[in-house]
Amino acid sequence: MENPRHLMSPLDFSVEEIDALMALASDIEAHPDKYSHACEGKKLATLFYEPSTRTRLSFEAAMLNLGGKVLGFPSGDVSSASKGESVADTIRVISCFADIAAMRHPKEGAPMVAAKFSKIPVINAGDGGHQHPTQTLLDLFTIKKLRGSLSDMTIGFCGDLKFGRTVHSLINALARYTGIKVVLISPDELRVPDYIREDVLEHNHIPYEEVTKLEDVIGKLDILYMTRVQRERFFNEEDYLRMKDFYILDNAKMALAKPDMYVLHPLPRVNEISVEVDSDPRAKYFEQVQNGVYIRMALILTLLNIHVS
Ligand code: CP
Repeated sequence: MENPRHLMSPLDFSVEEIDALMALASDIEAHPDKYSHACEGKKLATLFYEPSTRTRLSFEAAMLNLGGKVLGFPSGDVSSASKGESVADTIRVISCFADIAAMRHPKEGAPMVAAKFSKIPVINAGDGGHQHPTQTLLDLFTIKKLRGSLSDMTIGFCGDLKFGRTVHSLINALARYTGIKVVLISPDELRVPDYIREDVLEHNHIPYEEVTKLEDVIGKLDILYMTRVQRERFFNEEDYLRMKDFYILDNAKMALAKPDMYVLHPLPRVNEISVEVDSDPRAKYFEQVQNGVYIRMALILTLLNIHVS
């Protein structure tokens, strides 16, 4: 493919392109049969150097739903990375086997290195604590479906805002919409990185506040985006154990929220949302997962420049 287009950050797509992706995802959801042969003869490679359930399998489901095929590895240990092969060499090789690749890597920027050496589109499926753009696309799609708009809302991010790449990506993406207010709810040790506060929120004049108690602010939120404490990014287990149950969303806290406040979570969940909340109609985290398949189907078609009429 000449000059393949990659997805490293949600900002790689304009607001208009994200609108088009969401419209395509909606059409796929409404008319799945229309798209079931769109990628016949095409192959997706999933190159996952870090554990995943949703992202890897929803990429694979997306390609299979489009009539394509999938290949790949679920961890660096079972690839030649364990023998010392570089990301640059790996993607040169994968470019000979597949038409498009999704890469998850513990090192921030690794998918960007792959994109530099790739002949096929590379999708960042999560790089360290940095970005997770396809999670952001499905988060945006979910919010748009629930509220009809991505503007004019107060969104609270709760939990591990330091290491939570889904939070960083979504704040970056929402900064381009109007009327957004952000409430950052975290323990002091897990506050969002300075670059998110200064270069994204303050730079874009987005009103925000930082608090530690969820109960103090839940009543004013339109969306509550819960996150787990990211054990794999902690330097010591003691700090993780001290922090892991800092927030537990339960029915008592949900009673303080608006009747139309929706709860999202990128998943996996550990303890931060009590299972009793799952039956609350405002809990939308499993719908998010389903939306991820549609948006990834739309993304694969877009990056492969395949149009279905
Ligand atoms: N949301 C998400 O990235 O989940 P996985 O780690 O299971 O892919």
